[in-house]
Amino acid sequence: MNKYDSLTLKQQLNKEGHYWVEKPERAELIIVNTCAVRLHAENRALGRLKTLIGLKKRRSNIQIGIMGCVAQELGAKLFGILHGIDFVVGTDQVDVIADIASGVLEPATYTNVNSDFFGLDTSAFIPKNQVSSFVTIMRGCNNLCSYCIVPYVRGRERSKPEREILSEIQQNINRGIKEIILLGQNVNSYKYGNIYFHNLLRSIITINGVKRLRFVTNHPKDFSDEILDIVKEYSQIIPPAFHLPLQSGSDKILSAMNRKYDLKHYMKMIENIYQRFSNAAISTDIIVGFPGETEHDFKVTLETMRAVKFAGSFSFRYSVRPGTYAASLEDDVPEKTKIGRLQQIIDLSIKLAEKYSQELIGTVQQVLVNGIDKKDPSLFKGTAPSGRNVLIVTHKSLENGDIIPVYIESATAWVLKGRDNSLC
Ligand code: 5AD
Ligand code: SF4
Repeated sequence: MNKYDSLTLKQQLNKEGHYWVEKPERAELIIVNTCAVRLHAENRALGRLKTLIGLKKRRSNIQIGIMGCVAQELGAKLFGILHGIDFVVGTDQVDVIADIASGVLEPATYTNVNSDFFGLDTSAFIPKNQVSSFVTIMRGCNNLCSYCIVPYVRGRERSKPEREILSEIQQNINRGIKEIILLGQNVNSYKYGNIYFHNLLRSIITINGVKRLRFVTNHPKDFSDEILDIVKEYSQIIPPAFHLPLQSGSDKILSAMNRKYDLKHYMKMIENIYQRFSNAAISTDIIVGFPGETEHDFKVTLETMRAVKFAGSFSFRYSVRPGTYAASLEDDVPEKTKIGRLQQIIDLSIKLAEKYSQELIGTVQQVLVNGIDKKDPSLFKGTAPSGRNVLIVTHKSLENGDIIPVYIESATAWVLKGRDNSLC
């Protein structure tokens, strides 16, 4: 989401005559887009800003601003933390940045909440030869998971009008994009008038030129059979690859997290998916060390990961976020235990990812070509329907955006390698 926001801002600033420089040392305006989901992300952003502010010692004509979730969370307090910062722009106010850049608006704090704000009125910047692009379909979140700061910094859920989404996708296709990745904190709860997420998917499918369509992220309580039906109908375009954040396998912890589903519901959904797509790539997010998580709760999470056979997992140590319900609970899992549990989750997720990838050896995957391998320029690279990166051996000269059959010969956890099967 942050990447998308940065790219739309870049596009808007470009349109208004500003241009991008590769090095911050050469910039007159520097904006850092920030994430507040964990303290670690926040601290990294603040550290980066402090370094950038140091550039002002050599060149005093630089303006430096912070945008995104940390800006929304801390607002004007940031002037006390980051001495030398020029402006603070919250999540619903990104449209002021172009005016600050042009000198029309004073650099200051802009953090008003505007629940009608859908993001900038432009599509994202698309570099030459790019094949995939993000398109945000909804913003904010109403779920109030007890650990999560997102509803407080990104605000309440709002869905972008369908016509705007379709027009943005069409513009991207006209600029050469083949793969669209729909974004939202919970895409399953998209609702604009009487248009639900599955209706939106059906409309997007009718756009000529959308060769592949993906979406992140789903919520296990809202992921519906209607979505699976559409994927079944159009699996050549919408691959059966689903990100379904589990967070924990323990019902006690899920309830304390206010996730609004239990393990039985989650496993039933997984069974439904595998019944329709035996090769589905299911990925997840896991939090370890949530308040009250016992060794037993943690073991159940590991068992669940094995039972689901996740193709990929993002895992995090629980981080207390101010203003959330969980911040009122005692952060009682010692840091050392959190680190140990995180390592076990990472080890298991790599094993499961390897297993998933190795099962693809001997199969033919339809690979969307997106460039040349940096390490070995004799190989092309692309992505399989599962989302796995694929290195392609071929004698042909492939074009970015081609979809070609690749016979998979070897695999590591995250990368498949094979040869162009259209040669045989
Ligand atoms: N601590 C740790 N992880 C968190 N996430 C969200 N909030 C927190 C937190 N306070 C994780 C969840 C979510 C992912 C985007 O970030 O797993 O799915
Ligand atoms: Fe945060 Fe839960 Fe909303 Fe995801 S669904 S953004 S974890 S509150």
